[in-house]
Amino acid sequence: MPEHWYREAVVYCCDVETFQDSNGDGVGDFPGLITRLDYLARLGITCLWLNPIHPTPNRDDGYDVADFYTVDPRLGTLGDFAELIHEAGNRGIRVIIDLVVNHTSNQHPWFKSAREDKDSPYRDWYIWSDTEPDDRREGMVFPGEQKETWTYDRTAKSWFYHRFYDFMPDLNTANPEVRAEIKRIAAFWLQLGVAGFRMDAAPFVIESTPDAPKDFAFLTDLRAHLQWRRGDAVILAEANVGADEVGQYFGDSGGSANRLHMLFDFALNARLMLALARGDAEPVIDALRDTPKLPESAQWATFLRNHDEVDLSKLTAEQRSDVFAEFGPDKDMQLYDRGIRRRMAPMLGNDRRRIELAYAMQFSLRGTPVIRYGEELGMGEDLSLHGRDAIRTPMQWSPSVNGGFSAGQELVRPVITEGEYGIGKINVVTQQQNPRSLLSWFERMIRTLRQCPEVGLGACSVIDVPMPRHVLAHQADQPERGAMVFLHNLSDEDVTVDLSALGNHAEQPYELLADRDYPSVDDTLSKIPLAGYGYRWIRLRDSRGRRTGGQVVTRGGTA
Ligand code: GLC
Repeated sequence: MPEHWYREAVVYCCDVETFQDSNGDGVGDFPGLITRLDYLARLGITCLWLNPIHPTPNRDDGYDVADFYTVDPRLGTLGDFAELIHEAGNRGIRVIIDLVVNHTSNQHPWFKSAREDKDSPYRDWYIWSDTEPDDRREGMVFPGEQKETWTYDRTAKSWFYHRFYDFMPDLNTANPEVRAEIKRIAAFWLQLGVAGFRMDAAPFVIESTPDAPKDFAFLTDLRAHLQWRRGDAVILAEANVGADEVGQYFGDSGGSANRLHMLFDFALNARLMLALARGDAEPVIDALRDTPKLPESAQWATFLRNHDEVDLSKLTAEQRSDVFAEFGPDKDMQLYDRGIRRRMAPMLGNDRRRIELAYAMQFSLRGTPVIRYGEELGMGEDLSLHGRDAIRTPMQWSPSVNGGFSAGQELVRPVITEGEYGIGKINVVTQQQNPRSLLSWFERMIRTLRQCPEVGLGACSVIDVPMPRHVLAHQADQPERGAMVFLHNLSDEDVTVDLSALGNHAEQPYELLADRDYPSVDDTLSKIPLAGYGYRWIRLRDSRGRRTGGQVVTRGGTA
């Protein structure tokens, strides 16, 4: 049985430059992050995903890579990076890094050589047109910040293609030399000890131009290459694609996935936001029902907030406008006509009940949960910053200078110091001292989830009994691990839920996590009270078919 560690993981997304500065230069770095690993271990996460760590002109938060084979000197040295991997491993934390190979920075030596010399060996590593392309605007990813996808380069005397910004030319991934290089890059970082990659813009990597057919075979090849180098390495890919295409991204060889191990579940993410905005469980139920059956070992990565905008592009116009109205009513909160550039806590009105509900729901749904740094504190955004930078402010460690992020004068990005989300109110030190804080709740919730392996490994189904529209009742089952029932109430109305239909499947059911102290669940499961915005995680049975002595955990602490 191959090890599927990623299916029981809790992933924490962290941008090294805004996490912890150790040398007072105002930029977070690896030595700083190493000093915070104990914090992450206490939080209970098992996998750290680092946003790009390579040398970069930093015009797209490091996604504009200028050298794939080393680290950005502002973050430390390769030696520091190796230490990080080692220290994280000591604490049972695996590290994955971004693999950004759809494009490079225009400052990458490959592009410089390609544009300067038509005979350069790197010329064909990029995509050129000697004549002006017909539709130079087609396929833009960042409308408003981007004017075109083909830009004329005077040095090259040719147009080059770029899905994203004009300072990030697309690599010609149809070129076998580029493919070989991508495999070398991945192998290099595996050799340094990473556990895998978050693959940036996966659909574009296999589709060199919008009219080129997608070459899924490259994903099969890349996976095989990785797996030979490190058996348990994974690829977690960004691919906001329709249900009809998902299967091809995972691949299927004899019933087992043979391409990408994990995909971010963008469809579920948008429906979760819609459900939270409307106080209605139906969108989540629809999302679960629409989910195609996955091959063995394929896994979803669930999330509420990532490092980009909340992407609502796959919702209908009406649905999107409901989410905008609730979570981002001002134009300034919106981005690219499709998204919102805010964090969860402010979107949910800093209502503790709704924040817990949202995260309890995400973490209990099938797949591997991914959380963005600072969400565990309820950090806010800084809308005065440009675009997506609004939610990329430094981590808030303490109420002291610069929130404990840095002793420097000039910071990579300003710390949020004022108001409801300022360092005085939202920081790690204060919240760790308080067993009722959001951070303490996240610690308990994550540890509880780690006692429920059926969420990541098992089948997830909506419980088929009549339920008020605002209640999500779902179940996770894994024959060898047990079964859990989850109730989440998306409205502020108290309800009583009847799950007696499940009575036969229950063996001394008991509660593992809830928003408050409820009376113990009895064997009949017939009358289960659920408060407004409440949630209850109930173990139906465990692997041994008997109660193992779990404790009921509530907002206020252990009951
Ligand atoms: C992905 C990243 C985003 C980046 C873009 C270009 O969408 O998530 O942050 O700007 O790719 O690399």
